[in-house]
Amino acid sequence: MRVIVLPLIFVLIIVSCTPKVSSEQTNLAQISDAKVLQYAIPGKELYETYCANCHQKEGTGLGKLIPPLREADYFKASIHRSIWIMRNGKKGPIVVNGQEYNQPMPANPNLKPLEIAQIATYLYNSWGMREGVIDAPRVENYLKNPPIEN
Ligand code: HEC
Repeated sequence: MRVIVLPLIFVLIIVSCTPKVSSEQTNLAQISDAKVLQYAIPGKELYETYCANCHQKEGTGLGKLIPPLREADYFKASIHRSIWIMRNGKKGPIVVNGQEYNQPMPANPNLKPLEIAQIATYLYNSWGMREGVIDAPRVENYLKNPPIEN
């Protein structure tokens, strides 16, 4: 009897120890700083409303049409540029993780600097990134001038 029960117990232990946190929770669960969370919680809502249709909830993008934001060299390279794109949209070819994309992204003229700050804080503190709070004054500052990178 013991011969069967012991392996069974092992299997049960392994199964119960496997993390069951859904991927939805993991993004915010990565954040421990209260100030970052204060931005990231509404930022997640806004992201899911304004961006996730295209870039997907988990930031993976969509095939060869929509570039990823998650684990994306282009996204990591410049916060200024990302914020500029969120407000102004983007046209023309870009290369993200070695893959070329060339579909226009529409502008979001109605997003307020605070909302862009919340989305940016959420994204830049997800999927292993830890950029801290990106606040509204910083966003306003970035929106004054186009980024050098293009
Ligand atoms: C209608 C689909 C669509 C929506 C909605 C959209 N995007 Fe995009 N986004 C794109 C496409 C397509 C590109 C590639 C543009 C190009 O090829 O020049 C892009 C590019 C980007 C880039 C630069 C590329 C990269 O991978 O880093 C960022 C950053 C970005 N989008 C963020 C956002 C955020 C944040 C939102 C929400 C506020 C958003 N986008 C909403 C389609 C969309």
